[in-house]
Amino acid sequence: MAARRSAGSAAFRRARVTGVIHDTSRPTTGSHIPGETSTGSKRCEALFGPDCPDDVPTRLVRSSGARIWDERGREFIDYVMGLGAVALGYGHPEVNRAASEAIAAGVVGPLPPLLEEEVAALLSQSLPWMEQVRFLKTGAEATLAAVRLARVHTGRDRVVTCGYHGWLDWCRSELGVPATVRALHEHIPFNDIDRSVACLRRLGPDLAAVVIEPVIDGEPDVEWLNRMRSETERLGAVLIFDEIKTAFRIALGGAAERYGVNPDLTVIGKALGNGFPLAAVGGRRDIMAGATKSWISSTLATEQVSLAAAKAVVGIMATERVPRRLAELGGRLYAGLRKLAERHPSVISAVRGMPEMCYLEFSDPPSGFGVVREAAAHGILWKRTAYNFVCVAHDPELIDRTLVVLEEAIRTVRDDTPKKGGSC
Ligand SMILES: Cc1ncc(COP(=O)(O)O)c(C=O)c1O
Repeated sequence: MAARRSAGSAAFRRARVTGVIHDTSRPTTGSHIPGETSTGSKRCEALFGPDCPDDVPTRLVRSSGARIWDERGREFIDYVMGLGAVALGYGHPEVNRAASEAIAAGVVGPLPPLLEEEVAALLSQSLPWMEQVRFLKTGAEATLAAVRLARVHTGRDRVVTCGYHGWLDWCRSELGVPATVRALHEHIPFNDIDRSVACLRRLGPDLAAVVIEPVIDGEPDVEWLNRMRSETERLGAVLIFDEIKTAFRIALGGAAERYGVNPDLTVIGKALGNGFPLAAVGGRRDIMAGATKSWISSTLATEQVSLAAAKAVVGIMATERVPRRLAELGGRLYAGLRKLAERHPSVISAVRGMPEMCYLEFSDPPSGFGVVREAAAHGILWKRTAYNFVCVAHDPELIDRTLVVLEEAIRTVRDDTPKKGGSC
């Protein structure tokens, strides 16, 4: 991309990164960590492109509300929101207070904490189809636990998935995953009733579970969800909703509540802890009983800090009607993005997702990288592919400013695009 220009509207110029620059040389990164970081989609190449230019933010130092500060002291308005783990804003005071009290009371001990039962009961109240609950630390673990429970319940092995469910072997096919494990797992296409039903019927009596991420690139077709419900019932398989991203975001009870389709098991995480590490699997009592017949256990699954944070989060979510506020703020952003797509079809080919979690589909990778780099240079952290998330700390003024910055970034990239050769 061409050298930076301070062209554009006054708002765009005002939005220029304003933080104090402590050290303009990029700190050495990645020398102790293969692949630069333990979280794949936070890698610089994933966010800003394969050449990872020198001026983009690469390391987090601090976060608060909807803002983060990088290793050079620069401030950004963030839409990555810890990859959707934060819906109340970074460092929410009430959640932090609950976590601090839990630290003072003792993080772990030899017995299960009272809080474990308390938070499980709260979740069952808010999401009544989660009759019983088990806690774990990550979404990947909780989803694997759900699949394990389905296998125990049905006595079958084969699993069908739709979406992303983490890095563990049962749903992956990368190097290092045994072929015998891969062979137990198949994908169905999102919202495609005929192909999904055909796949389920083909696996028939061998099918243990259908695991669905209910929002992928857009909202689910409720008819598709209903068919997955009725087909799994007919085949005696377990229907699992992976609501790691959607619970407490698109509704308190995620997609199950919003679209009125009850799964047998549900997996939740991310917004549940507002950044504190906690995930849970829950559902029908008879299926959850499998947890006592098999082995699902983790040393720190019940540490008190994340449980205390989650207790505070669940309370705030309900009393402050957080999903409704996310829908309003996200609606403002989403409507603005659609206008940008209409005005700049040569750079943006579509707006994907829904107001609470969305992204721009760019006409090609260089345009996407160009826009996010230009946006970062003007203080906005925007994810190129995969979801951007609003939190309740994104007020309308920030969202309007974001749209101005994105539009100027799009204009800059469009102007930089080499024109096709013609005759003089
Ligand atoms: C739908 C879904 N399921 C599972 C996971 C895995 O969660 P974790 O990264 O906490 O293991 C993710 C993570 O992005 C997710 O979006």
